Amino acid sequence: MGNVHEIDHPLIRHSLTRLRDVSTPPQEFRAIVGRLTGLLAYEAMRDLAVESVPVQTPLQQATGSRLTDRIGIVPILRAGLGMAESLLQMIPSAEVWHLGFYRDESTLQPVVYYNKLPQAQPVEVGILVDPMLATGGSGVAAVNALREWGVPRIKFLAILAAPEGIRVVQDLLPEIQIYVCDIDEQLNDHGYIVPGLGDAGDRMFNTCH
Ligand code: PRP
Ligand code: URA
Repeated sequence: MGNVHEIDHPLIRHSLTRLRDVSTPPQEFRAIVGRLTGLLAYEAMRDLAVESVPVQTPLQQATGSRLTDRIGIVPILRAGLGMAESLLQMIPSAEVWHLGFYRDESTLQPVVYYNKLPQAQPVEVGILVDPMLATGGSGVAAVNALREWGVPRIKFLAILAAPEGIRVVQDLLPEIQIYVCDIDEQLNDHGYIVPGLGDAGDRMFNTCH
């Protein structure tokens, strides 16, 4: 599927099952999202550029590596926040730029409520994080925002995707690298991924009332 990477791994399958479970409480939900993000990141960051640097160990001089690109982690609010923290632990030198979108429940179109991306000096690699890629509307809007800023390389990390959303992003933005833990069956009539895990933001922040 070109630039789509569905990471098949027993640790991912195990944690994803707990995440899908309706009885998993928010605290555990957040912890699992963090864990899955770490596993996704391990694959997704494989092609980041590094340069050689000298390092003095307690025993001798050696040659090590240092990330060279300016990296921006870009969570789509709200649910992307749960992935950003884990990614930031793995890339402590990264910048974090937030984008706020919510889906209009009747049209399923993304509505922007926060975008403070600057006009200049774009990061060299933008890593969009959002647990859910459903219709693809939010993902496409977020990629376009990063493109407007001038970000040359963009990766999109999601926990779950629907085939419909993957197709939309691939058709409109074939150069974007997408990394997901699983691609589910389809969207239901309300634009929810099935079997899915429900509303990721609500489950993460304990707002399912
Ligand atoms: C969810 C999810 C994505 C979006 C995906 O956010 O976190 O941002 O829906 O749907 P799409 O691919 O059809 O655009 P939501 O709008 O529920 O906002 P929230 O994170 O604040 O709950
Ligand atoms: N957003 C979610 O949080 N869940 C879905 O299944 C679809 C969009």
